[in-house]
Amino acid sequence: MSDDFIDLRSDTVTAPSAEMREAAATAEVGDDVYRDDPTVNELERRAAEAVGTEAALYVPSGTMANQIAVHAHTEPGQELLLERESHIYRWELAGAAKLSGVQTRTIDAGERCVPTPDAVREGLVDEDLHRPGTGLLSLENTHNYRGGKAIPVDRIAAAAEAARDADVPIHLDGARVFNAAVALGVDASEIVAPVDSVTFCLSKGLGAPVGSILAGDESFIQDARRVRKLFGGGMRQAGIIAAPGLRALENVDRLAEDHANAERLAAGLDALDGVDAPAPDTNIVVAHTEDAGIPAESLYAACKEAGVGCVEFDDYTTRFTTHLDVDEADVDAAIDRIAAVVEGLRD
Ligand SMILES: Cc1ncc(COP(=O)(O)O)c(C=O)c1O
Repeated sequence: MSDDFIDLRSDTVTAPSAEMREAAATAEVGDDVYRDDPTVNELERRAAEAVGTEAALYVPSGTMANQIAVHAHTEPGQELLLERESHIYRWELAGAAKLSGVQTRTIDAGERCVPTPDAVREGLVDEDLHRPGTGLLSLENTHNYRGGKAIPVDRIAAAAEAARDADVPIHLDGARVFNAAVALGVDASEIVAPVDSVTFCLSKGLGAPVGSILAGDESFIQDARRVRKLFGGGMRQAGIIAAPGLRALENVDRLAEDHANAERLAAGLDALDGVDAPAPDTNIVVAHTEDAGIPAESLYAACKEAGVGCVEFDDYTTRFTTHLDVDEADVDAAIDRIAAVVEGLRD
């Protein structure tokens, strides 16, 4: 990829900073399966503190954190209730079915992103002679597919309460929960308070090269640690990769810059004829190009050719994501390039 390429495919594309590389090189390490790695232990302590939970577990990826949560909360044959466009349902290779033997039941929450309490109650299944029972409700904040929407705390709390009333635990896929917290002006712990477990990623907007966190209470994390081992995620001198993760936790406040850049990008794209790019809550911009007659597949290919990375989301929907490695000037350059691409592809 050329130096001039403006990579807006995802906030996962960032390169570790010099400080992160230095932290990795000098990290104190031990065998983390024996709980002997002081850097991992410190990261888990600080991560739990950051979301207000009793404990936390360092894992290689957001997908593994989510799948461990599904496995630890449920029994095979139960149902997992979740939103129709959620990452766990849409992008995790049916892991819930393959790794945990659960059946998924989806709710279309639309632009609300989180199901209403009534929709949750309707989706919950009581265990009886014919029905398997719901083992877990999973929510997502920010909602990736629906454009990085930051879901207000009360909406999460209301859905969670409906599940809790039926003794069903709640997981939050908060891969970008700090983006939500910054956008909503609340502490991440407020978003997490109503749920039993949360995933968040160090390797997205926070800029770490590797790693995610699964957080919850002590007994849940004890179970989750066994599941991590089962899934092959027990790591040894993991302090080498956990050390940049500790530095990443310092990057929460600067997420506001990514949000401002995303807003600038969306405004620039929305101004193009036939392009609908709603103002984003956080760092994810989705551009709809049906009115311009431009399929996402063509836009993606032409943007790549023009030096802008993006991701196809749907037939006419394309995602652009801002992050630590792009600034306002990059965004302006990206808008110019995309404008030229759109002009060239227009019907
Ligand atoms: C909402 C959400 N959850 C989970 C993940 C999975 O994270 P990872 O790519 O680290 O497996 C992603 C990745 O983009 C995501 O957007």
